[in-house]
Amino acid sequence: MLRTTLLAAARSRTCRTLVERAPVTRGLVAKYVAGSTLESALPAVERLTAARLVTLDHLGEDTRDADQAHETVDAYSRLLAELGRTGLADRAEVSVKLSAVGQFLPDDGEKIALDNARRICEAAAAAGTTVTLDMEDHTTVDSTLAILAELRTDFPWVGAVLQAYLHRTQADCRDLSGAGSRVRLCKGAYDEPASVAYRDKAEVDRSYVRCLRVLMGGQGYPMVASHDPRLVSIAGALADSSGRGPGDYEHQMLYGIRENEQRRIAEQGRRMRVYVPYGDEWYGYFMRRLAERPANVAFFARSLLTN
Ligand code: FDA
Repeated sequence: MLRTTLLAAARSRTCRTLVERAPVTRGLVAKYVAGSTLESALPAVERLTAARLVTLDHLGEDTRDADQAHETVDAYSRLLAELGRTGLADRAEVSVKLSAVGQFLPDDGEKIALDNARRICEAAAAAGTTVTLDMEDHTTVDSTLAILAELRTDFPWVGAVLQAYLHRTQADCRDLSGAGSRVRLCKGAYDEPASVAYRDKAEVDRSYVRCLRVLMGGQGYPMVASHDPRLVSIAGALADSSGRGPGDYEHQMLYGIRENEQRRIAEQGRRMRVYVPYGDEWYGYFMRRLAERPANVAFFARSLLTN
């Protein structure tokens, strides 16, 4: 119930204004967001890449304005040029939300998003790194996978996120388990109806394991995006039983979440990538992080009342 309310608030303009104006918000946002500009986020990237890998997300989503979509492409081009110039491209790639580059624009949205994503892939190729497409709510999955397929004809290293809470995902994992494919498997962060998604936590976890089994047994490169200790340990066991070595898959976690566990995995010589968001369009991302953990909400609510 609380999760549903927070996820609805994540798309409300009124709530956005209230949360953005609350004095307490900035400090909490800083836990999950590395900086409001690329320059302010880079020190975190440099620190993390000493022992971990990184994927950078220039925050933004649900764009209804073509100019804003182009500005997002420019921001990614600047980011990728910087990763190339500093040599960070060896250890840092980028993650892109297609709704930030035009997927929801009227009429030609999918085509605009494809063209814009292509420009980002060209910049990534020039820098010597890769791009992974984030996955948004279930209405976008077919379009995102169609764009992925188009991009992969020219840039075979483009990856995508699949969400274990969707009923369709085990089949999507099968389709994307071929050689060269890169799939980031997560549980899923949106409020989805029971007609398309598992809503019970145990069912989502079981689906995650089924999907991971398909990816680990395939020819592609599985990216295990979860902070859940049980799933982290199951991933290690499935990798071993599928004959995968430490370089044949990776763990991924979000910036600011389970730092000690991130370090522990990296120290064991396993690949650990941190998803690092930056920028001033943090509202939707921040609300989804609050929704994931009731303790976050209680802390946020207490802080609002005492400030
Ligand atoms: P779970 O939610 O069960 O959390 C396990 C434990 O992790 C918790 O008990 C807690 O200790 C810690 N934890 C989790 N979330 C926390 C939080 N917000 N604050 C503090 N502690 C927290 N989703 C999506 O729909 N589309 C996408 O493209 C992506 N992309 C993505 C990339 C990467 C690298 C990751 C790690 C995750 C995503 N997600 C996502 C988000 C994902 O779907 C999911 O919502 C979160 O990862 C939380 O699920 P867990 O698997 O961590 O399990």
